Amino acid sequence: MRLVKVLANLGYGSRKEMQQAIRNGWVTDMQGAPIKADSKLPHEEILFDDEPLDPAQGSVLLLNKPLGVTCSKKDPGKLVYDLFPDRFKLRKPAISTIGRLDKETSGLLLLTDDGQYLHKVISPKTETPKFYEVTLDRPLSGTEATLFASGTMMLEGEDKPLKPAELTITGEHTATLVLHEGRYHQVRRMFAATGNHVTDLHRSRIGNLMLGDLKPGEWKVLSEDEKALVIG
Ligand code: URA
Repeated sequence: MRLVKVLANLGYGSRKEMQQAIRNGWVTDMQGAPIKADSKLPHEEILFDDEPLDPAQGSVLLLNKPLGVTCSKKDPGKLVYDLFPDRFKLRKPAISTIGRLDKETSGLLLLTDDGQYLHKVISPKTETPKFYEVTLDRPLSGTEATLFASGTMMLEGEDKPLKPAELTITGEHTATLVLHEGRYHQVRRMFAATGNHVTDLHRSRIGNLMLGDLKPGEWKVLSEDEKALVIG
């Protein structure tokens, strides 16, 4: 793809503005030498205004989602998309979250503009395990793990039983729950069905990919190896 189109699709500006930016010498190689519109330099060797280019089309981003932000494109209040540079909202194709976390759930959230990758991760066929660290209002009774693993548990208002999920109790009020599907408010509803209430919910892992040392609100681009860790 021509450089002007690459830059416009990343949201840096219109094609006309990008032609002008190249003419002005704002688009350079790593040494700061201006490059031409027909440059074949690899994405990672191009600077715009002395900064590395935004992640290339097809990238997968890992975000440590803070509490209080919504996985929606247009809810009132703060959105996960507000945690990225403003121009990301103009990207073509658009970046979307891979699945969702509730406003009051923190942790590992993936985003991409790669539809095929997105479908692989969320497809019921893949059954990608998602790990949740749960804190509860009341002490765990000790019967939850068997119920959650049964494959027969029904949530209110649904007509299909939940897939077996693995619960590991880590304290009187804390546990790790591994899900292989993603229904609306699933973790909260599963514990509500046992007469308990989730007070804190954090996703720590998807497949074999963990958050690492990303702080809340921080994000990074996944390497090909890290992308593979998600779907195994
Ligand atoms: N289950 C929930 O209840 N909330 C989430 O954000 C994810 C899973």
